Amino acid sequence: MAMRSDTLRDPHTIRGIREFVNRAGERPAVINLSLGVWSWDLIPWKLGGGAGVIIVRTDLPGGAMQTQEMEHQLTMTVLMTPDMANFSGNVHGGAILKLLDQVAYACGSRFAGTYVVTLSVDQVLFKEAIHVGELVTFLASVNYVGRSSMEVGIKVITENIAKRTKRHANSCFFTMVAVDDTGRPTKVPSLSPCTAAEKRRWKCAELRKQLRRELGGRFDEIRKVTVSDGNCG
Ligand SMILES: CC(C)(COP(=O)(O)OP(=O)(O)OC[C@H]1O[C@@H](n2cnc3c(N)ncnc32)[C@H](O)[C@@H]1OP(=O)(O)O)[C@@H](O)C(=O)NCCC(=O)NCCS
Repeated sequence: MAMRSDTLRDPHTIRGIREFVNRAGERPAVINLSLGVWSWDLIPWKLGGGAGVIIVRTDLPGGAMQTQEMEHQLTMTVLMTPDMANFSGNVHGGAILKLLDQVAYACGSRFAGTYVVTLSVDQVLFKEAIHVGELVTFLASVNYVGRSSMEVGIKVITENIAKRTKRHANSCFFTMVAVDDTGRPTKVPSLSPCTAAEKRRWKCAELRKQLRRELGGRFDEIRKVTVSDGNCG
């Protein structure tokens, strides 16, 4: 197995991740691992009391990395370490949210070829706990693009390493906006959904975009609700 430091196959992706981690307060020492035709980047991160390693697969058998399919999809796998635990001993929801945001950033930024910011996130539903010691894989995909915005869908799979059992922990949707050097929204490349799954994701993302607009309107109405002060005595 070959191992070298600061060696990156997709500099754009890694530049984006570096910027992200740098903003989080720590310059990462990226380690590239390669085994035959496969290669991974290991990016250590540390923030506050938490630390971990982001594992980014940077290659595919046959070197298919440069196809559009790979440019709009990204996989990261992270081992859940004890420093990520909450008071009940399971993984802190905030630790997962942070990783989700990192994955959405990396996926959106690589696709857009620019810096991207998080506009919104929806449908993060923790129906089952994620346990310390599990391996969590984030499967991210740009589902839909507008002019400057993108919907990044992330499917979270947890794996009990010893038992080799897997669970679908949750799926959620980030809206990321590509911005230029001055922080203003900038155009993203077009995306042509090809496969049946990509077409379905595009259609569903359009419906979710519409739903977000409707929800936004409803929340505005709720904010306008006024109540008169009753006599509580
Ligand atoms: C994201 C941001 C750049 C958008 O700026 P803006 O002035 O609203 O820009 P625009 O009106 O041109 O909108 C940009 C895109 O966001 C979408 N958008 C903006 N507000 C939206 C809203 N409330 N709901 C859904 N989509 C919205 C627009 O539809 C547009 O998408 P499109 O270009 O694909 O059509 C700006 O809101 C921002 O900088 N937010 C802070 C982001 C951040 O720091 N995130 C981390 C938080 S800790």
